[in-house]
Amino acid sequence: MPTEPAAPQTDAAPEDLAPGDRVELVVGPVAHGGHCVARHEGRVVFVRHTLPGERVVAEVTGSGHGGRFLRADAVRVLQPSADRVLPPCPWSGPGRCGGCDFQHVDLAAQRRLKAAVVAEQFQRLAGVDLAEALGGEVVCEPVPGDHDGLGWRTRVEFAVDGSGRAGLRRHRSHEVVPVDDCLIAVREVTATGVLATAHPGAEAVDVVAPSRGPAVQVPVPTSGRVPDVVEAVTLPGGEVELGVGARGFWQVHPGAAQTFADTVLGWLDARPGERALDLYAGVGLFAAGLAQAVGGRGRVLAVEGDRGGAEHARDNLRPWRHARVRRDRVDRAVRGLVNARERYDVVVLDPPRSGAGKAVVRDVARLRARAVAYVACDPAALARDTAYLAAVGWQLTRLRVLDAFPMTHHMECVALFEPVRKTGERPRGAGGRRGRVELS
Ligand SMILES: C[S@@+](CC[C@H](N)C(=O)[O-])C[C@H]1O[C@@H](n2cnc3c(N)ncnc32)[C@H](O)[C@@H]1O
Repeated sequence: MPTEPAAPQTDAAPEDLAPGDRVELVVGPVAHGGHCVARHEGRVVFVRHTLPGERVVAEVTGSGHGGRFLRADAVRVLQPSADRVLPPCPWSGPGRCGGCDFQHVDLAAQRRLKAAVVAEQFQRLAGVDLAEALGGEVVCEPVPGDHDGLGWRTRVEFAVDGSGRAGLRRHRSHEVVPVDDCLIAVREVTATGVLATAHPGAEAVDVVAPSRGPAVQVPVPTSGRVPDVVEAVTLPGGEVELGVGARGFWQVHPGAAQTFADTVLGWLDARPGERALDLYAGVGLFAAGLAQAVGGRGRVLAVEGDRGGAEHARDNLRPWRHARVRRDRVDRAVRGLVNARERYDVVVLDPPRSGAGKAVVRDVARLRARAVAYVACDPAALARDTAYLAAVGWQLTRLRVLDAFPMTHHMECVALFEPVRKTGERPRGAGGRRGRVELS
């Protein structure tokens, strides 16, 4: 189950097969990125809009890695998979909106594909057999509040074409596909009238439907101040309302922030008086829960690089005087903590798609924490960082794979890492466990 290489890519197909050419293919396993792998005369073809086991007519759409692989769309299905369904969205499919990869796949099967991708990425990039380590197959769970995988997206960036009409982009293209609805968006998003009104002069329109208050539209590029919205979550110490910039980071599925907070805070189980570090803190979701847990005798440091995010985190964490926010790059901040010989009991890592990377995870390991929770939107980055952590004596002990982005190929992983203890050594803290990785 190869992954598309992240090597220099060209849109020119090799001479023998050009974009627009059609070939008949028998489709193999799913790969990371929303496509399946097939072979044509020995060359890998990444095929979208298909499923493992199908026989399809595929139209070449491009190539990559100097022509070493092809991209294609399944435009006719000769032998369908039992997991194929009629896409609920009429704008999904070859050559149409590029937002969803799996509209043609039964929802339970989408989750099996995502679990297979996570297992393959861990095997290939971390050398970890999750099924063996977990004592069972990896599963991708729905996020609470899921309604058939539709109506979940609370934040949508609509692209705007030259005539001012909002739509969604074609896959791997700047071309705007006009749509009059988006079925994965929450109703409040389209109810703003974003798709029915013109947006002259805008390149895009961000629409945000927060958990408190009305949905807002923000034209891009923005002129003037970007509005703030309010998001509410129930943390172990009670409900909190967090201010977020309408273009700032917040999880897009309405159940995601709550589920990730429940999982991370439950696993870390920070206790009064402990020291907690929240890296890539955003507006302070996990830091707020940690601040409640460690209390006034403890200490929380949240590190966030984005100016707006850090300012919101400062405001949001004001009720807890023992919580501080540092606006800095995580690599620089953690190196500073290591140089100052600081120690933290628990650490949260919630990096962007690229992952935390070798330097950061190695420095995190030097903070002598008893547990590190890692929230990852890219299983490949998580698997790479798992390998870096393993090399410095940390093991993956828990993993949840959550379908926070139904109909797309994306998923979120929440992982717990703990130091590998020497024989006879007692675990530090209630989160301590060893040996086999546990599912949820
Ligand atoms: C996936 S978001 C997580 C935010 C937050 N933990 C939450 O759950 O809402 C990643 C955050 O990391 C920040 N970020 C990205 N790269 C960073 C870096 N190198 N140093 C510091 N912050 C960074 C982004 O601005 C963003 O707020």
